Amino acid sequence: MEKNVVVTGAGQGLGNCVVRKSLEEGFRVYAVDRTITEELNSLKNRYPEQLEVLRCDISSMADVDRTGEFIKAHTKRIDILYNIAGIYRFRDKVGLADTNMESEAFLTMYDVNAVGPLRMCKALADRLGGGSVIINISSEAGSIGSCWRTQEYAYCMSKAALNMGAKILSNELKDRDIRIFNLHPGWLKTSMGGEEAMKSEEAVTPEESAGHIMQIAEHPETVPKDRMFMEYTMEPLVW
Ligand SMILES: NC(=O)c1ccc[n+]([C@@H]2O[C@H](COP(=O)([O-])OP(=O)(O)OC[C@H]3O[C@@H](n4cnc5c(N)ncnc54)[C@H](OP(=O)(O)O)[C@@H]3O)[C@@H](O)[C@H]2O)c1
Repeated sequence: MEKNVVVTGAGQGLGNCVVRKSLEEGFRVYAVDRTITEELNSLKNRYPEQLEVLRCDISSMADVDRTGEFIKAHTKRIDILYNIAGIYRFRDKVGLADTNMESEAFLTMYDVNAVGPLRMCKALADRLGGGSVIINISSEAGSIGSCWRTQEYAYCMSKAALNMGAKILSNELKDRDIRIFNLHPGWLKTSMGGEEAMKSEEAVTPEESAGHIMQIAEHPETVPKDRMFMEYTMEPLVW
């Protein structure tokens, strides 16, 4: 069946893989990113009818509203919303003494990683109906129950906040048969994963992670009803 799919963070990495694979499956895709990359332009050339490429910064409600209006003008229903866009900064791998809370970057991390996905959900809420799925790409770094880190305050706090926002939204949408999953995509061989990930055998390619994540999104009935925060392999994570 043809599905209507929205993907943020579509310009590169995991989001770009989800866009490409969704197009290969014949879905109609709305690809959202603040940067329109060569990869997106070449997909648009290959799939001119199936793909819409939309420039949008998810930290701006005005931008998200404008993007949402475009999508809603083109489709009556969204089957899957993939909230994948996120930011990370290697220089934040420091403890409290060296963490700069005056820096705008600390709050920007929260604005993009935690609030950005909620902005997308708000803008597209009336196109999500029975059977629709929201995938939020969170991280094991957002787990409070299994936290072992002694640094990276801003990123971990932003993903924990994303998890809470998603849980409240799932309570609010309970009667509308909309599943929400917050997934750790694995340590990814992407620019965010960095050089270490590119070399490591423990890291996963974005193609492999995207394949698993799309299985979950396209077959939500295979996931136990009480499982929401989990690995891309469906292993449950502690909130
Ligand atoms: N990489 C990992 O090991 C890892 C591990 C756990 C969780 N995750 C999560 O997985 C997701 C995807 O990661 P990735 O490795 O694929 O990252 P990536 O390669 O850095 O791609 C992220 C994409 O999101 C876009 N983006 C960032 N801020 C945005 C904004 N304000 N508005 C719209 N688009 C924005 C980026 O655009 P620009 O190019 O302009 O920045 C980029 O195209 C993220 O949410 C990340 O936190 C990643």
